[in-house]
Amino acid sequence: MVFRLLISTNLFSMLATSYRDCSVYIKSKEAPAKDVLKDLVEMCRAIQHPMRGLFLRSYLSQVSRDKLPDIGSEYEGDADTVMDAVDFVLQNFTEMNKLWVRMLYQGPGRVREKHEKERSELRDLVGKNLHVLSQIEGVELELYKDTVLPRVLEQVINCKDELAQYYLMDCIIQVFPDEYHLQTLETLLAAFPQLQPTVDIKTVLSQLMERLSNYAASSTDVLPEFLQVEAFSKLSSAIGRVIEAQIDMPIVGSISLYVSLLTFTLRVHPDRLDYVDQVLGACVKKLSGTTKLEDNRAIKQVVALLSAPLEKYDDIVTALTLSNYPRVMDHLDNGTNKVMAVVIIQSIMKNSSCISTADKVEVLFELIKGLIKDLDCTSADELDEEDFGEEQNSVARLIHMLYNDDPEEMLKILCTVKKHIMSGGPKRLPFTVPPLILSALKLVRRLQGQDGEVVGEEMPATPKKIFQILNQTIEALSSVPSPELALRLYLECAEAANDCDLEPVAYEFFTQAFVLYEEEVADSKAQVTAIHLIIGTLQRMNVFGVENRDTLTHKATGYSAKLLKKPDQCRAVYACSHLFWVDDQDGVKDGERVLLCLKRALRIANAAQQMASVTRGSSGPVTLFVEILNKYLYFFEKGNPQITSAAIQGLVELIKTEMQSDSTNVSPAPDAFFSSTLRYIQFQKQKGGVMGEKYAPIKV
Ligand SMILES: *[C@@H]1O[C@H](CO)[C@@H](O)[C@H](O)[C@H]1NC(C)=O
Ligand SMILES: *[C@@H]1O[C@H](CO)[C@@H](O)[C@H](O)[C@H]1NC(C)=O
Ligand SMILES: *[C@@H]1O[C@H](CO)[C@@H](O)[C@H](O)[C@H]1NC(C)=O
Ligand SMILES: *[C@@H]1O[C@H](CO)[C@@H](O)[C@H](O)[C@H]1NC(C)=O
Repeated sequence: MVFRLLISTNLFSMLATSYRDCSVYIKSKEAPAKDVLKDLVEMCRAIQHPMRGLFLRSYLSQVSRDKLPDIGSEYEGDADTVMDAVDFVLQNFTEMNKLWVRMLYQGPGRVREKHEKERSELRDLVGKNLHVLSQIEGVELELYKDTVLPRVLEQVINCKDELAQYYLMDCIIQVFPDEYHLQTLETLLAAFPQLQPTVDIKTVLSQLMERLSNYAASSTDVLPEFLQVEAFSKLSSAIGRVIEAQIDMPIVGSISLYVSLLTFTLRVHPDRLDYVDQVLGACVKKLSGTTKLEDNRAIKQVVALLSAPLEKYDDIVTALTLSNYPRVMDHLDNGTNKVMAVVIIQSIMKNSSCISTADKVEVLFELIKGLIKDLDCTSADELDEEDFGEEQNSVARLIHMLYNDDPEEMLKILCTVKKHIMSGGPKRLPFTVPPLILSALKLVRRLQGQDGEVVGEEMPATPKKIFQILNQTIEALSSVPSPELALRLYLECAEAANDCDLEPVAYEFFTQAFVLYEEEVADSKAQVTAIHLIIGTLQRMNVFGVENRDTLTHKATGYSAKLLKKPDQCRAVYACSHLFWVDDQDGVKDGERVLLCLKRALRIANAAQQMASVTRGSSGPVTLFVEILNKYLYFFEKGNPQITSAAIQGLVELIKTEMQSDSTNVSPAPDAFFSSTLRYIQFQKQKGGVMGEKYAPIKV
């Protein structure tokens, strides 16, 4: 043993010396360089100790580097000599790689680890050969295709060493030009399935695809179309074969391969949606063995896979045409499905894409079903309210992005949306019903004034039909229950029905709002808000005949007088005065009823005043009186004969007295309000004209 080592040590230094001499010899040009080099490589075989062999060869390359025959090089230069040079390097490469692989050490774990580390440091020496090959100028495409690549790959495959294979494949991809890769894709890709099963092929392949897509993106015009097409199908089938061959590859590995392929496709063939769909389809096939993904890294890759087309096209409509898209989504767990749904909606918002057919809406809502209904059994208290609200608001915004100019198609879209959101359960309806209603009312406004002629068998979209659908939709809110919201929506519908001249429909909606008010709205603050909404809407109605109008106004005033707090009562009652006198409706000018309302409001204000002085020992706010005074002035100017200057004068005096009686505790607000009201009267008097004459008798 010692003897062998001695010999090899001696041999080693001898060879090293002789290399130096040879290098001088080549320089002298006394013998052809290739012969000298050949001898040198032969001699290296004598050294079988891997480490020494490696170094010796490395050294050989150092001294012979500039002596390699190459076309146009200093020493010799025709095609033959290029071939010689290539041969030489290839041989050197083969030998070195063999030595390197032989260094694989099978000792105990710890020592082995250290060894592996050394070994991987040495790999650069092997890789350098490939680099040298790529630098030889005579290595053109033909030579690379016919000789270099096949021989290098042969060596890579035959060495059967995981580390070497991974490293060398990566080396090949990095050192040779992308154009060569494109032209030899088949040969290169065919090697992958033959590698050891443990080799990290996906990283290498991804590198390759990334380089190719960068290359293609930077030079589409020089790349023949057919080559691009072939590149896709070759890569695609190579990936298929690799995945088939590497049975043990974890699912995340295969999916990241598909992500790389998809990235390649989107960059090189942005217009080939069929390719994109093919990649997704392959992924579905791979996933179909598993039910739901559980590996987090794999889930991330699937999300990347699904996000890539959205980012590329900035447009969900394109993604909706990919038949395999929803099938990939089906493999996500419920939580991730939701995350993906949010990404999709964001993409729609970002691009302001308009989804314009019911079919597309159907596909879209299938995709985002994670947000539309409860997929999981998360109980209510586990739910993050804020997140939930944000998600549902994004669905609400989405509903406004669904639009078609054609009323028929728009109605179909609305029905599709309705179908989906109705399955959303009580938590979601308050978020999703209002945008649907408002979107439908927009359609009603478009149809308004158009008589729906019946075309063929099918009923065209008519306001009447839409109102029916809306009626059912709002009714669903009773399951929440959310009476205030429903009431508001009924009133919106009533107003729209009014504008469509549909008296019975408008009346029905009002009736339903009233039923809700009576039976469901219990909170006193909510009642106040509701009452003012009702009064405001009713005032704008012009479709009602006398009888219907009377019924509704009567109820509204009745509710007003029954509000819990006096000030609320007072304000609601004087607001009702507007129900009897509408400026632009000749039929609604009942001065007497207006006066009755205002007098009633005054009585309530008075009662409120008394109550306040009983409970707090001081007079209550005079504000109510001032507010009523302003109503008097309004109807006075509008020409209501029941409102006289004398009545106004009386009210002014009353307020003055009230204010003086409580000079200790005058709050500045009503005082200022009153002062400016008086200033207004003064101003009207001074202005003269018809109005000035009217105001003349009032003294302030
Ligand atoms: C032989 O391999 C060594 C080790 O990588 C390298 O440094 C040298 O360049 C190669 N020799 C030749 C002549 O290419
Ligand atoms: C939305 O996408 C389309 C192409 O699908 C593009 O033409 C348009 O400019 C994009 N709009 C915005 C606001 O990004
Ligand atoms: C996911 O959603 C489906 C319904 O689509 C449901 O049957 C399943 O229980 C949900 N999974 C979990 C873990 O909640
Ligand atoms: C809404 O539906 C209810 C019954 O579900 C019906 O009583 C009511 O008249 C409908 N309203 C309208 C405006 O069609």
